[in-house]
Amino acid sequence: EHSNHVTVVEMAPRDGLQNEKQPIDTARKIELVNLLSDSGFDRIEVTSFVSPKWVPQLADAAAVMAGIERRPGVRYAALAPNMQGFEAALAAGADEVAIFASASETFSQRNINCSIAESIERFRPVAAASRDRGVPLRGYVSCVVECPYEGAVLPKSVADVAWQLRALGCYEISLGDTIGRGTPEAVDRMLAAVLDELPVTTLAGHFHDTSGRALDNIAVALERGLRVFDAAAGGLGGCPFAPGAKGNVDTVAVHDYLMAHGYETGLDEEKLARAAAFARSLRSTS
Ligand code: HMG
Ligand code: MG
Repeated sequence: EHSNHVTVVEMAPRDGLQNEKQPIDTARKIELVNLLSDSGFDRIEVTSFVSPKWVPQLADAAAVMAGIERRPGVRYAALAPNMQGFEAALAAGADEVAIFASASETFSQRNINCSIAESIERFRPVAAASRDRGVPLRGYVSCVVECPYEGAVLPKSVADVAWQLRALGCYEISLGDTIGRGTPEAVDRMLAAVLDELPVTTLAGHFHDTSGRALDNIAVALERGLRVFDAAAGGLGGCPFAPGAKGNVDTVAVHDYLMAHGYETGLDEEKLARAAAFARSLRSTS
């Protein structure tokens, strides 16, 4: 009943680079996005319009957006936590904006400096503006299985926040195992709770690979009918506010897994490999 096509949303320029301590030249970030654009993605998350004090690595967000070569058919997305970020993202030419909430109160405070309820209020004008201006709005829920500060997170809490993001008008909710500690069993329980509230076509999986279980978690999500997954070329990534979080699951590994299991992605294997090698070269060795 579900399709064999899987959409892989590329995260390396944003989630992949945001935690890198050494400054990376804007020109190299642009080159990464261009290589990814060439690899067949429909959607690339390019950067974040957040406070440069909170995420210094992405302070050049507007310059990156201005420098990339825009390939027709590719949607270039950016994170925006508030109206200031939304306006800046649109001014810079973002095709899509993502708001990001958490299923854990402590992570919400550490990541965006407000409670979950406050974050939803803060997103309300962003959602209204995106609707008025015809900009697709994506939503994230972080800590869908575990929080680095609170431990296990209840599936019901995830479902509640996912529902609220959907009610705001997000066309898709990406469910984030922020610290990559989710087991397939826990992910499955979480998905069951979310699927009680939302149609599967509105959900995406966002797995970090800290414990090496990301592909197993994708398998469980595929079984549940999800067909959109976030991944980062080169396995780059981590969140500055989630101690211990490692990279997003590697796009090449996801692609290989999907091919081996009879799915198709539309990605060009060779070009993707080249982009992934370049992505890895941006990572500091420390
Ligand atoms: P705040 O300090 O509460 O914000 O931060 P504020 O509204 O009080 O403003 C304070 C200062 O920040 C002001 O500057 C504002 O102009 C500035 P000052 O007057 O002090 O010079 N400011 C901004 N500057 C640029 N762009 C903006 C912006 N907003 C305010 N949009 C805020 C609240 C949300 C801004 C801050 O906490 C923040 O930027 N957090 C970013 C957190 C972040 O980017 N985390 C990583 C991404 S989430 C993630 O990785 C998880 C995910 O991958 C899924 C998963 O794995 O789970 C998505
Ligand atoms: Mg992430």
